[in-house]
Amino acid sequence: MKKMTLKDIDVSGKKVLVRVDFNVPLKDGQVADDTRIRAALPTIEYLINNNAAVILMSHLGRPKGEVKEDLKMDPVAQRLADLLGKEVKKTDDCTGSDTKKEAEKLQPGEILLLENTRFNPEEKKNDPGFAKELASLAEIFVNDAFGAAHRAHASTVGVADYLPAVAGFLMEKEIDVLSKALTAPEHPFVAIIGGAKISDKIGVIENLIDKVDTLIIGGGMANTFLKAKGYDMAESLVEDDKVDLAKELMQKYEENGVNLLLPTDLVVAREMKEGAATQVVAANEVPAGYKALDIGPETAQQYVEAIKDAKTVIWNGPMGVFEIKEFAEGTMKVANAMANCRGKTIIGGGDSVAAVEKAGVTRDIFHISTGGGASLEFLEGKELPGVVALKDKSET
Ligand code: 3PG
Repeated sequence: MKKMTLKDIDVSGKKVLVRVDFNVPLKDGQVADDTRIRAALPTIEYLINNNAAVILMSHLGRPKGEVKEDLKMDPVAQRLADLLGKEVKKTDDCTGSDTKKEAEKLQPGEILLLENTRFNPEEKKNDPGFAKELASLAEIFVNDAFGAAHRAHASTVGVADYLPAVAGFLMEKEIDVLSKALTAPEHPFVAIIGGAKISDKIGVIENLIDKVDTLIIGGGMANTFLKAKGYDMAESLVEDDKVDLAKELMQKYEENGVNLLLPTDLVVAREMKEGAATQVVAANEVPAGYKALDIGPETAQQYVEAIKDAKTVIWNGPMGVFEIKEFAEGTMKVANAMANCRGKTIIGGGDSVAAVEKAGVTRDIFHISTGGGASLEFLEGKELPGVVALKDKSET
């Protein structure tokens, strides 16, 4: 990584402000999935073990600049304390006088978690005054929130104007894995792009043209490509205003000699609901009144074959409406193929992460990104503001 990391600075005896992405799902006031909290533990534990006083901050949900009872950080503090086996103090705001006093008296090895940064309207505006106040709590800024690195907010970017800013271990790992895949992948390099809409994935598809050997398309967005091939997609979700673009993309992929795989058969139904009667049809034979809701078994087999011998695979977006069991098979087969692949398998994006969890193969994946939007923007080739703001290795 070209940016400075925790290992490049001396944190002993220092107060360290750490931006983490603890934007975790809550259910009945409890943390429903602590993956993101666990992912931040190496940085937090390193800081404690190296005699730093740790001040953590994160957003949670989208409270729109107001205090929302159900988006307070208390359940997160509790889960973090349980995971660390250590007390985690928590404040009621980010920069109030009591918070400043708590931060002031925090001792090396102790942990303080600030309240939801997005309770402050200044956060999303990247307000310099708010950023300066946050920075005043500490002597060093560590950004470990890869999942929020695409947001130019006070706690991800602004703070770096006032403190030496370095990457935490999670940030470092995410950037290293994703940039290696994009800049120096081992071949064959296969990308699997799915999800409902082509419009969400145009940037990624364009950025991968000169990088991958095979591009696999699935999910609702495949319908727009199939329509561009002249197929009648009946009631399937199609973005009509993107059909020409799909044609252009197919042409560009062909010109670059990339193997572009589209569904050859589909699982269709009249309705997208549990218990719906399904049929498997050829991709150019979707019956009137039906919609495509998953890739068919022949397509799934072709995709599995393409993934099998890949040395690098990136997957973003499901192959069908996998939340409904009738339309889950294509996505589950891809998840299992990822798990069985010996190459570097990388998953970015919430839905594909949920799919590998559902398939029970999380442990068999080389890297599961903690960033949804952030990993997508990275794969689009965009610079992430939270990363840009960090100190370059050459800077001293
Ligand atoms: C995420 O969940 O992708 C990150 O925490 C960013 O959240 P946001 O989309 O609300 O900015």
